[in-house]
Amino acid sequence: MPAADSELIERTADFIRQQFLHEGSGHDWEHIRRVWQVARALARHTPQANSLITELGALLHDVADWKFHGGDEEAGPHAARQWLHSQQAPEAVIQAVEIIIREISFKGLGVPTPMSTLEGELVQDADRLDAIGAIGVARAFAYGGHKNRPLHDPTIPPAAHDSFESYKKNTSPTVNHFYEKLLHLQDRLNTPAARRVARQRHAFMEQFLTQFMREWDGQDVEASAEAEDKP
Ligand code: ADP
Ligand code: NI
Repeated sequence: MPAADSELIERTADFIRQQFLHEGSGHDWEHIRRVWQVARALARHTPQANSLITELGALLHDVADWKFHGGDEEAGPHAARQWLHSQQAPEAVIQAVEIIIREISFKGLGVPTPMSTLEGELVQDADRLDAIGAIGVARAFAYGGHKNRPLHDPTIPPAAHDSFESYKKNTSPTVNHFYEKLLHLQDRLNTPAARRVARQRHAFMEQFLTQFMREWDGQDVEASAEAEDKP
């Protein structure tokens, strides 16, 4: 990669690191760093992918996220354009990054989210891998806490959102998010490499939910009392 490109990536990483350091909703700098690292690894196995666009897309994918900007879907692409423009990035690169940010988000179970570029596919896979597994569990509850949501409420069934509008308005308990999004991500990845990584992460979430429900209903306590009663 030309030196000018690596410098732009480093400056962008510094810019984002400063903004996201003290973030408590699971969208902190460490999330961005993991997505950057995984997207870079996916790009290494995808020679046709432009690595500058992939890395900038990963670093900027959550900038001014609609989730934290009153639902404004253009805030992210706009903020990315402003930053990259201030760094004299070529217009083609700016446009490619804007497209990634515009298309990357999950928008509800019934809403397809195809990525129109190869680089976007890699960044979306990296972002989705960070939403599942042990880190996915931690991030989901961090987000729920940030939004003051209950962990779980068995009287509120999960919903399959068929529009981005209804997905955005959703305020259901955090456990519902697993059924409304996280457990479906393994089937919505773009690359075989990401699908391979997802297998174990997905299995871990299922195991977590099984154990969560056992504790919720006290089944494990009952089982242990029964075991003790037996001579
Ligand atoms: P996306 O834009 O595709 O939703 P992000 O990288 O912005 O991806 O992160 C989304 C993450 O935020 C989810 O994977 C989850 O950890 C958290 N999150 C978003 N909505 C909820 C929710 N309703 N309940 C719990 N966690 C959520
Ligand atoms: Ni993200």
